[in-house]
Amino acid sequence: MDSFIVILLFSLISLVCSANRNPGHLKPLGSVGNLVLIKELQREFPTASQLFTYHVAKSEPSLSRQVLNDNKNFSLWQTDEQLLEHVYGLADTKIQVEAFIARQRHRIPMTFDAFLQRYKKEPLMFADNIPKVLQKYLVVPKPLQCDAALEIFQSAILIINGINASPLLLNEEYDHFHCILRGHKKMVLINMIKYPDVRKIVIPEKKQQQEPPMNPDRVDFDQFPALADVEYHVANLTSGDCIFIPSSWTFQERSLEHTFSIIYNVKHRRALNIDGKELNECADYDSTFTLDQIDWSVERQPQSFKDLIMNLINTNVVGFEKWREYFSKHLSHDLASDSEASAIFEEFYDIIDVDGDGQVTKKEVEQINGAHQHHITDILYEMVKVINTKRDAKTSKPVENNGEEQSIENEDQIQSSHDQSEL
Ligand SMILES: *[C@@H]1O[C@H](CO)[C@@H](O)[C@H](O)[C@H]1NC(C)=O
Ligand SMILES: *[C@@H]1O[C@H](CO)[C@@H](O)[C@H](O)[C@H]1NC(C)=O
Repeated sequence: MDSFIVILLFSLISLVCSANRNPGHLKPLGSVGNLVLIKELQREFPTASQLFTYHVAKSEPSLSRQVLNDNKNFSLWQTDEQLLEHVYGLADTKIQVEAFIARQRHRIPMTFDAFLQRYKKEPLMFADNIPKVLQKYLVVPKPLQCDAALEIFQSAILIINGINASPLLLNEEYDHFHCILRGHKKMVLINMIKYPDVRKIVIPEKKQQQEPPMNPDRVDFDQFPALADVEYHVANLTSGDCIFIPSSWTFQERSLEHTFSIIYNVKHRRALNIDGKELNECADYDSTFTLDQIDWSVERQPQSFKDLIMNLINTNVVGFEKWREYFSKHLSHDLASDSEASAIFEEFYDIIDVDGDGQVTKKEVEQINGAHQHHITDILYEMVKVINTKRDAKTSKPVENNGEEQSIENEDQIQSSHDQSEL
């Protein structure tokens, strides 16, 4: 009897072991199998027109080699000492850092200097909007310098991380350039339009499911059969390279040393609708056009926007009228006397006020995430666009008597609105 069980067990084990003969089984993701190289350009980005009418529209990645090397100040990024010595105000800049303690992710505040002293010794990562003092050392990528592209250029995120292998990542709202300032990364990309089942691995349908997540260092094809026969688009990236990853691709990255990279996010839905004609009329590339020259105002930055309205609640600005007054100030535009903008503002207020009781609560602001957030920022964006169009029309009219006074007043308000958005 005993020996029968042993034999049964033994044959069961051998059955399990031999079940999956795929050579990539239990190997690192994208290391074996159907590997495809990503099309490369040497020392250039795709043109704005190629980027939007081909790479975005057809969902094709693109790899630009050594495209950052000629940027002024590029060498500055190569050591921490140079950054701290040459970037005025960087050391004291307050940042939030991701710390991994006992497998839990925490956000802890520290100065940039403290982070640079510690990140090589501790499991710390920085991933946030690029601090203001660093913005002037990064040139806006050439295809994003086009006016039509600038409008939908949403954010520039700096990531500083150590040696690691990430899970499968997803950036579905945005198409993005992922550029390496320092270090090396291996990238593996999978097209989820071609392999929709892979999406279910990245975003499991049932959140309660206690299945262990995919281990990128040892991919179990028995557990994740959807990954067994996909094309893996692979690239080794090094300092100066930028890869364009369309929104419908999932990707995995493996940092081979401490790596500084930057993500340039472009709103996918708007990118799809960009006017091809406008892309052919882009201004010439300006090598002095750096990120600090972009107006990173509220409608571009959902996070600071959320902070802004949370601040409204904390300071007891309550009710539609008060909010309209506040936003009028913030946007230097009297919403109450502009029926078109006011109607959009009403829509904006109603959608935040989820339960429709006329008051926005902390709980309702905390719910601003995901699709709900897109919707809200889209409305806000529309409103700002309407206001800007009117403002442009106004400023191009001949100056009236009180014109001078008014522009000074406006400047004050713009200044104060900046202060608020940084809170
Ligand atoms: C950045 O580049 C400019 C132009 O080449 C140069 O004048 C400046 O000193 C550089 N700044 C730093 C901090 O390296
Ligand atoms: C990336 O580099 C590794 C060596 O670290 C090499 O084995 C692999 O073939 C390279 N992959 C590509 C796509 O060049």
